[in-house]
Amino acid sequence: MYHPGSRAPVKLWDLEFPNPVGIAAGMDKDALAVDGLFALGFGCVEVGTVTPLPQPGNPKPRLFRYPQHHAVVNRMGFNNAGAEAMAQRLARWRKQIGQRAPGILGVNLGKQKTTPLEDAAGDYLKSFSLLADLADYVAVNISSPNTPDLRKLQGSDYLGGILRTLNQANSERVSSGKRKIPLLLKIAPDLDQEQIEEIVGTVIDCAWDGIIATNTTIDRSPPYENLEKQGGLSGQPLRERSRQVLRQVLRATGGKVPVIGVGGIETADQMKEKLDAGAALIQVYTGFIYKGPGMVKGLIRA
Ligand SMILES: Cc1cc2nc3c(=O)[nH]c(=O)nc-3n(C[C@H](O)[C@H](O)[C@H](O)COP(=O)(O)O)c2cc1C
Repeated sequence: MYHPGSRAPVKLWDLEFPNPVGIAAGMDKDALAVDGLFALGFGCVEVGTVTPLPQPGNPKPRLFRYPQHHAVVNRMGFNNAGAEAMAQRLARWRKQIGQRAPGILGVNLGKQKTTPLEDAAGDYLKSFSLLADLADYVAVNISSPNTPDLRKLQGSDYLGGILRTLNQANSERVSSGKRKIPLLLKIAPDLDQEQIEEIVGTVIDCAWDGIIATNTTIDRSPPYENLEKQGGLSGQPLRERSRQVLRQVLRATGGKVPVIGVGGIETADQMKEKLDAGAALIQVYTGFIYKGPGMVKGLIRA
């Protein structure tokens, strides 16, 4: 229950989120605007997706607006300056703010475009090793539609291996006296019930800490068949699908794993729809593009 005027903090894992509203991954891929995003009121900023090495992403144009639908299609393709550059920037930021962190910082990790799927776990591990000390939580992105075959990592051939690799790295942290980093998996909306149950089963078996549902969709079912640009669709056209996946994930977890709800949130009612369904926190991106900075405080007040 969120009371008007309260800051509605949310305790999850060993973290206290000042409010349940976060900025989703992809807005600040290189952690360039962390302070600014917190200043707008976000309780959580998820930076990235970052890959081990810098990469240019797809050729431009790669981002398209459909204002009549409050939607965006993007095929950015993980353009970013690499994990090392992000680590340096976040280390400076942590030093600057000292103990006064304005909110929770998540770091979202991806696979290099050129890394074969068999070696994907190694990519996540490299970035985790560079960034875990600087992150409050780490999200693993296996659900962007814009890195060829990335979504295959959601399948049973690869998923368990990736999750166990980072568990091992986390255990080594704990053995050396460091904190265990909450590990979250970000999933696609384009999954059927069986795939969702399998993924949730793996997350629970591997004792991962949370799920982020969802990334953008490649679906263009009517009435959105005319949004013809290739890439991931987000914003209002994603909302219903994202809501269904959130419900399916929550049912499959049986409340055992906190879920962050993302996809098509623009108004307080849309935020409440996800929180009332059982999401522990929410994130926004496309709604923020259309509504602008004032949106954040509006959502928090609500
Ligand atoms: C331009 C753009 C870039 C994105 N880049 C990333 C990314 O790098 N990593 C990621 O996990 N999600 C990325 N996303 C997906 C968002 O984090 C979010 O999951 C999705 O857009 C659904 O939320 P929304 O409808 O509020 O935008 C991106 C979305 C957009 C619009």
